[in-house]
Amino acid sequence: MKGVVFNLLEEAVTRSFGPEIWDDLVDDAEASGAYTSLGNYSDDEIVQLVAAASVKLDLSAPEVLRWFGENAMPILKERYGVLFEGHPSARNFILSVNSIIHPEVRKLYAGASCPFFHFKEGEDGAVLMSYQSSRKMCDLAHGFVKGASKLFCEEVNIHHHSCMNHGAERCLMELKWRH
Ligand code: HEM
Repeated sequence: MKGVVFNLLEEAVTRSFGPEIWDDLVDDAEASGAYTSLGNYSDDEIVQLVAAASVKLDLSAPEVLRWFGENAMPILKERYGVLFEGHPSARNFILSVNSIIHPEVRKLYAGASCPFFHFKEGEDGAVLMSYQSSRKMCDLAHGFVKGASKLFCEEVNIHHHSCMNHGAERCLMELKWRH
């Protein structure tokens, strides 16, 4: 996992809970705590940090990932504002993840292994989003979708029809926006 993701987690935790809590998480996770944005770090290290946050914040690990995704989005908007420009809706923004967002990320962070999503447009604006990654971080995607919708002042309902964390071959999420 690229260091930029660890940097984002640190920023999100520090903004919400303060730097001491981040230091505690690093200690509890026995993580290094020093990440350069372009560096590559073991996926296990983020899993350990999420596990430490789960204990500290009294949330399940999936809830921590969702919290992280949701709270990372405003920070991403500050840093990569151009990726948010020109989109009339959160739906439109999310649908650009394979064609624009992650390709840009790969240019900025050589070697980034961003997931590819399959999208199917459902009835009345709903989107079926399927995800497959050895990292099984569908809850991070869930949080990103939630956080992006908030930034567009929209409310989204996300239903997980199937999940890799529950033995499915891929995750399938249905996204429905209420305007
Ligand atoms: C400005 C917007 C975004 C930026 C800058 C961004 C950036 C990144 C970066 C740097 C990684 C790590 C890649 C690596 O370490 O190899 C990543 C992973 C990921 N991204 Fe994005 N992303 C954005 C939007 C989104 C959106 C909208 C979604 C979901 C719909 C998404 C879903 C994910 C997931 C689930 C991962 C975890 C890696 C995996 O599952 O294998 N991202 N993203």
